[in-house]
Amino acid sequence: MLATMGALGLAPTAEAAGREPVFRAPRAGDFTLRGKGAAKVVIVGGGIAGLTTAYELGKAGYDCTILEARDRTGGRNFTVRGGDTNLDLYGNRQTARFSDGQYMNAGPGRIPQWMVTMDYCRELGVPVEVFTNSNANAYLFNEKAGMTAPVRYRTAKADVYGYVSELLAKATGKGALDSEITAEDQERLLEFLKSFGDIGSKLTYTGSERRGYSVDPAAAGTPGIELGPVPSASEVFASGVGRYFSFEFGYDQAMLMFQPVGGMDRIPAALTREVGKRRIRTGAVVQKITDKAHGVTVTYTEQGRTHTLDADYCVAALPPNILAKTSHNLGPAVQSALEACTPSSAGKIGLEYRNRWWESDHRIYGGITETDLDLAHIWYPSYGHHGKRGLIVGYYNTGSQADNYAKLTPREREERAVAQGVKIHGEKYRSELATSFSHHWRQTPHLEASWHSLSGGPDAPVFAPLNKAAGRVYFAGDYLSYADAWQHGAFTSARKTVAALHERVLA
Ligand code: ALA
Repeated sequence: MLATMGALGLAPTAEAAGREPVFRAPRAGDFTLRGKGAAKVVIVGGGIAGLTTAYELGKAGYDCTILEARDRTGGRNFTVRGGDTNLDLYGNRQTARFSDGQYMNAGPGRIPQWMVTMDYCRELGVPVEVFTNSNANAYLFNEKAGMTAPVRYRTAKADVYGYVSELLAKATGKGALDSEITAEDQERLLEFLKSFGDIGSKLTYTGSERRGYSVDPAAAGTPGIELGPVPSASEVFASGVGRYFSFEFGYDQAMLMFQPVGGMDRIPAALTREVGKRRIRTGAVVQKITDKAHGVTVTYTEQGRTHTLDADYCVAALPPNILAKTSHNLGPAVQSALEACTPSSAGKIGLEYRNRWWESDHRIYGGITETDLDLAHIWYPSYGHHGKRGLIVGYYNTGSQADNYAKLTPREREERAVAQGVKIHGEKYRSELATSFSHHWRQTPHLEASWHSLSGGPDAPVFAPLNKAAGRVYFAGDYLSYADAWQHGAFTSARKTVAALHERVLA
């Protein structure tokens, strides 16, 4: 009733309140008493958005066909295992030589608890485990700031929080906050700073056991030796380590985070299974989308032969930069909108090691080391702890850093990534390496983007033509969401499209 009132303008709609409308999957029973039947839908793109569209419409018996240009479904959800191959736009062909059980999530690698992705994992029976996104034992390393050795997160945090607390306490003591807060609140602030910065009753930071130990506490007689020496406030601020702390506060990056057990592609694998392989054509490259008065015709090539597919509706769930290069009759406003979606770059390299020296030598079990090197982030695996071998993501970088690595041969990428990593981890980073595989999304055929940036967001006027049907053609993808570069964006965008299409068919 509320929804109906909302439609009549008598009550606020969920959209107007900034909320996602509650999604109710189409059901075959929806057609009862309506004299309507499920329609035939051709879905272009077998990534998360396309698969979800087919999966949800399939619940009501829609006749869906997915045309996927690549030889596998999942789109950017790509888990690299031994035997997987890839050919990039520069002509580099790689075959992964990873051992059994070792994998790299080349695309999505982490799932926040609040995202719809978790609901799909539950519904599809995809087991999940914790993905460690922040680890006090991981390192920070800013070479440009003159650091010659990495510092542990815990140490950097103790020092930054310690000195910030001391300075704020001093400012309070000098009356600098008198016009801001009452004397009583200043007392409360000091109480907070004492514990937040571990600055004691003298309100001075002189180090803390939070920094860690050079000799860990153990049995009687071994109280441990706290890590020293404590750098000065000036040295701590000059190192720039504090710039990394806010990452873990992000709504989309805060722990706990999750990953599917065995690889992120367990999600598209489950969707593919549910949709049914017979409904999915891989290696089918769409050449033209023609919207007609009573249907849609999609022209595609498969192994050099041209085919056409007629349907009642089309859902274009391919990347906007690829659709922009595909022939269509959807009009100039659609074309302008597609061209306004700017593709971004990102790359990763998986480094498989003969042993898990980061666990045995560095006591790092998962998490991320942050750097100002061109490798940007090093990810330690959140699976397979204490196993024989292990796989590190040796770079996860974006923008020009990613593009610069992409221009190198796979061997050169490995050499460069290892030369950088040695600065943090020492020679084992080189000597224990078994094999590597690197992947760059901007240079991947049929995708050519890691994600997209839409100036002003997906609801900016220029993108309006993509948020509704162009004739009988609908659009879906993470780029049309407030969670671009997340599967959640693809899932919710697909749901929105499914709801609109189903409503139209029922009308
Ligand atoms: N969502 C992507 C990530 O977490 C960009 O790295």
